[in-house]
Amino acid sequence: MNPTTPLLYTYRRCPYAMRARMALLVAGVGFDAHEIVLRDKPAAMLRASPKGTVPVLVLPDGAVLEQSWHIVQWALMQPNATADVQRWWSAAQTADNVALLQCNDGPFKHHLDRYKYPERFAGEAGNTPALSREEHRQRAVELLLQPLNTRLAAAPYLGGDAPCATDIGLFPFVRQFAAIDPARFDALPLPHLHRWLAGWVHSPLFAAVMHKLPSNAVCTWPHNHRPMSSPNPSSQPRIHLIYARASNGVIGKDGTMPWHLPEDLAHFKRTTLGCPVVMGRKTWDSLPARFRPLPGRLNVVISRQADWLASTGFTDKNSLQSACSLLEALQICEQTTSQQAVWVMGGAQIYAQAEPLASRAVVTEIDQAYDGDAYAPTLGPDWREVARERHVAASGLGYSFVTYER
Ligand SMILES: NC(=O)c1ccc[n+]([C@@H]2O[C@H](COP(=O)([O-])OP(=O)(O)OC[C@H]3O[C@@H](n4cnc5c(N)ncnc54)[C@H](OP(=O)(O)O)[C@@H]3O)[C@@H](O)[C@H]2O)c1
Repeated sequence: MNPTTPLLYTYRRCPYAMRARMALLVAGVGFDAHEIVLRDKPAAMLRASPKGTVPVLVLPDGAVLEQSWHIVQWALMQPNATADVQRWWSAAQTADNVALLQCNDGPFKHHLDRYKYPERFAGEAGNTPALSREEHRQRAVELLLQPLNTRLAAAPYLGGDAPCATDIGLFPFVRQFAAIDPARFDALPLPHLHRWLAGWVHSPLFAAVMHKLPSNAVCTWPHNHRPMSSPNPSSQPRIHLIYARASNGVIGKDGTMPWHLPEDLAHFKRTTLGCPVVMGRKTWDSLPARFRPLPGRLNVVISRQADWLASTGFTDKNSLQSACSLLEALQICEQTTSQQAVWVMGGAQIYAQAEPLASRAVVTEIDQAYDGDAYAPTLGPDWREVARERHVAASGLGYSFVTYER
């Protein structure tokens, strides 16, 4: 331990400790870290902060910061902090952001705990009338997640065009809520919140703070030499959609595609080869058995069936994996491949969930209308056409390869 370096008592999975580590890394403050063991808390930590919860930051002059938000402030307001780093703190001081943080640390956390650990709070005094687990979940959604989604519809971060301390203050708690039942979280009609959460989950900053340290030992934090002033979305895999749609928006009928267009299948292969592809279980079912998993690509299939992968008999994790939600599928792609793009290849349910997260859509627009029961996602006004190639198939059917971006 270096006596001139702050010492952070931390616990990797604690959301309060995550926000403190994120702020220290954003600010580029060097620190030592002690990853505690909950059942064997270090005596030195208890001497410094008898309340016994992390994070605790012990400064070289002996001063102790016992609240995560005080650590965030201390880190971002260092005397030598750049204007960018100081803005992380100042942009968190607006009335809206202060109210969001208070809601997160107060009522949202109250309901989150009772949704996550219903058995711990079962006989709680004062909890009258007792709320069910489902009611706690619903209150958490209404109190914080819905207002957050509304805020994030107006700007990508709570700091506006750039993140601020409120983003990193709330993110670990929203992530915890989402992880309780990822499929239900994905199904919430909160697209801006989904996009924001996915951005932080996939950020290098989050990857850096989740670095594993040996337990019950003091280590110099390995990333302390690398200030991280933004999540750097350019290093995350980009999420692209690829689909063929009829002129009336149909993409499928009775579990298959209502047209035969080999030129489109060749285009699909050319475009996605080498990159991970993500699909819903019904789209997997629609692929001819001899072509699946699609070769030369990691196939990630989203299903709520826990035993789905085992039921396929495939065991090569570089070819096929399953995920219980879109977010988990994207995490698998990021962890398994080094590719910069993930192609979401349907069907209608998965396109609808992925559209808010996507930055490009490669669409085969077929001139003709077809009967169907599965439809293309709606691309809103923020999408713009950037390329269009017109073709006529050997069968005489007209179609165009069109690229949209935002
Ligand atoms: N034209 C094109 O480019 C194109 C491309 C792809 C597909 N398609 C067509 O689209 C149709 C299939 O689309 P679809 O909307 O019916 O099905 P789909 O999106 O392919 O798959 C739906 C399935 O995905 C799983 N799923 C969906 N959301 C989930 C979530 N949030 N969490 C966990 N699992 C989730 C569920 O699987 P479980 O039931 O196993 O839980 C669900 O039944 C077919 O007709 C196909 O041919 C067309």
